[in-house]
Amino acid sequence: PLVTTKEMFEKAYKGGYAIGAFNVNNMEIIQGITEAAKELNAPLILQVSKGARNYANPIYLTKLVEAALEDTGLPICLHLDHGDSFETCKSCIDGGFTSVMIDGSHLPFEENIAVTKRVVEYAHDRGVVVEGELGRLAGVEDEIKVSAEDSSYTRPEEVYEFASKTGVDSLAIAIGTSHGAFKFKGEPKLRFDILEKVTEILPGFPIVLHGASSVIPEFVDMINKYGGNMPGAQGVPENLLRQAAKSAVCKINIDSDLRLAMTGTIRKYFAEHPDHFDPRQYLKPAREAIKQMVAHKIVDVLGCDNKA
Ligand code: G3H
Ligand code: 13P
Ligand code: ZN
Repeated sequence: PLVTTKEMFEKAYKGGYAIGAFNVNNMEIIQGITEAAKELNAPLILQVSKGARNYANPIYLTKLVEAALEDTGLPICLHLDHGDSFETCKSCIDGGFTSVMIDGSHLPFEENIAVTKRVVEYAHDRGVVVEGELGRLAGVEDEIKVSAEDSSYTRPEEVYEFASKTGVDSLAIAIGTSHGAFKFKGEPKLRFDILEKVTEILPGFPIVLHGASSVIPEFVDMINKYGGNMPGAQGVPENLLRQAAKSAVCKINIDSDLRLAMTGTIRKYFAEHPDHFDPRQYLKPAREAIKQMVAHKIVDVLGCDNKA
């Protein structure tokens, strides 16, 4: 069934593991992710961005997720990623999503509180949970680019007021991760000290980590080997993600690793089969690569296998 993240996060917090939140844009991505979760009996969050809704038309994604529910029998949460307004959140809540993010992180503090509170009131009346955000990640989301200079870490002194005034169910924080495939110029570093302060102020409160792809070198190399050009791509090392998963971080967002797995596999396929032109021929190994990659995340990074 479609579920909220309430029980998932309670168990993940206590159990010292995290749930994977994977971005979905089409059938093969949804199938690859859900097949891995099914085989490993893992709880799952499928998340849809505004860009994904524009790309696929919301009804197609919702129906594909319904099909995955029927096919797998898993508890799955359908979540809006980076909701930009009350209206987008409302449209997803009315359309059957069980969780929404309202991302007011670019707004002045009081405005972020106001819009988040409004979404929470609408959502909670309908049994839907809400993720808010404090602090700004660098990188690209929905074609909006945030430069490293405009990014900023979460200020722990703001989190209590934000959580209590808005009533949000979980909080995304900025501790040095960023969106996309180019996360660090030098040595990767995360501000675990900020996470610890937030946890002291909000004990037991589920924290969300965005921009958490590890930008798996195997797929970057495959892309570069078969005609791509992504020099310097670098993600969050998996040992840091493992550390986060054991902490108050209950949700780890992964999109770039799905994109890289799919693109690398298709590039390799095209290079090796220049005469093939049936989309099923190259989408099949791409879907399989997503499945294997997600299985690796579930078992080796998140630790949520057999927790469904
Ligand atoms: O936050 C960014 C996610 O990777 C979604 O990306 O907005 O291009 O769909 P998108
Ligand atoms: P990545 O770009 O690291 O996959 O982050 C995805 C994300 O945060 C979606 O909200
Ligand atoms: Zn994000």
